[in-house]
Parts: sequence; structure tokens; C-alpha cells
Amino acid sequence: MVDWKEFGKIEGLIDIHEAKTLHSLVQHTSVDGVLLDLGTRHGYSAAIMAHAARLSGGKVITVDKEKSSLQDNLNLIKQLGIEGKIEFINDKIEDISWNLPIKGLFMDASHTYGDVKRDFTRFEPWVSSGGFIAIHDAVPLKLPANYMGVWKNLSNYFDSDGTNSGPEIVFNEFFNYDKFEALGKIQCMAYGVKK
Ligand SMILES: C[S@@+](CC[C@H](N)C(=O)[O-])C[C@H]1O[C@@H](n2cnc3c(N)ncnc32)[C@H](O)[C@@H]1O
Repeated sequence: MVDWKEFGKIEGLIDIHEAKTLHSLVQHTSVDGVLLDLGTRHGYSAAIMAHAARLSGGKVITVDKEKSSLQDNLNLIKQLGIEGKIEFINDKIEDISWNLPIKGLFMDASHTYGDVKRDFTRFEPWVSSGGFIAIHDAVPLKLPANYMGVWKNLSNYFDSDGTNSGPEIVFNEFFNYDKFEALGKIQCMAYGVKK
């Protein structure tokens, strides 16, 4: 059983249905490799994946160019039972070196088309057969107009034309049944399991 109220103590930018789907994807992925979380923020997606990895194995490597509060919140990490399951890399994704097989990739960092494509094409080859890739905001945001001012301040969410359809275009371009055997969408998150 997952105590979702405990996870609610971390401010997250994915909703509960997406979180439950992400947890389930990790829990049911038994291939070897690490879980790579691109865009840590306060560590919500990292914590969800780390919790599910208690059952299916592996650890989470989570990357953000900004500091994350999760690494300092040792009490919460203990309450969630995910001690030792998360490694935080405080760096730009484009600057980290990588040579590890990946069992699950969650992409939720920059949302511009160029950046999402860069991250996808770089890390997808490392995802093992039977592993999954999930992309957040691959279903366009439909926020009320008064929210948009807040979101527009987050320049890495938007292309210069004001759209944030990078994740959606990458999903449409690269996810197909030749390469993935299960494709799905839940709320704003799209995912596929690699053949
Ligand atoms: C939408 S938030 C991540 C939300 C998080 N996954 C959650 O569950 O709440 C996006 C994060 O990506 C980070 N980010 C954006 N571009 C990045 C880059 N090129 N390298 C590293 N981090 C980046 C931002 O600093 C921000 O914290």
C-alpha cells in the first residue's frame, strides 16, 4: 500500500493520477538499470519512483540545475522509506556524463522542443528493452488564462512563440508501435514501454 498523503508533503508538479501511473510503471518494470528523473524540483517524481523501486529494484538518479529541497528533508525521506534510493545530481542535464542502462526515464525538465528532443535522443538509447519512457506535459496544458502569467515566467517551459508543446511534439515524433509496445496517456503524461 502506498500512503499518498505522505507523498503529498512534497510539493509536486505532477498530479496524483500521473503519480500513481508512474509508480505503477516502475513497480512493474523488472529489467536491470537505474531510474533517471530529469527535472527534480522538490523531488516529488523522484520520491514516487524511489518508493516503487523498493519493490522492483534499482535506484533513482535525479538531475536538476537548481538545488532541490528533498535531499535536505531526511525525516521525510525516512518516513517514505526511500533512504539510499535517490542520488541527486545538481547540474545541467546537458552537462552530465552518462553510461548506465536505464530501466525507466521520466522527462520533466525544460519543455522547449529543442531541449526535449536533445534529452530524448541522448537518453533513449540507454533505455533497456522492457524499460519505459514517460514524458510530462506531452498532452498540452489547458490552464485557465489567469494561470498563464505565472507559467510564462518559467521561460524553460515555453518556446519563443509562447507554446509549450515540445514534449507533445517529441512524443508524436518518436513514440510509435515500431519501437514501443505499450503507449498511453494519463492526464498530461504520455508514456511507452520500449520493445
Ligand atoms: C517541472 S519541474 C520538475 C517537477 C518534478 N519532476 C516534480 O515531480 O515535481 C522542472 C525542473 O527542471 C529543471 N530544469 C529545466 N531545465 C533543466 C536543465 N537543462 N538541466 C537541469 N535541470 C533543468 C528546473 O530547474 C525545474 O526544477
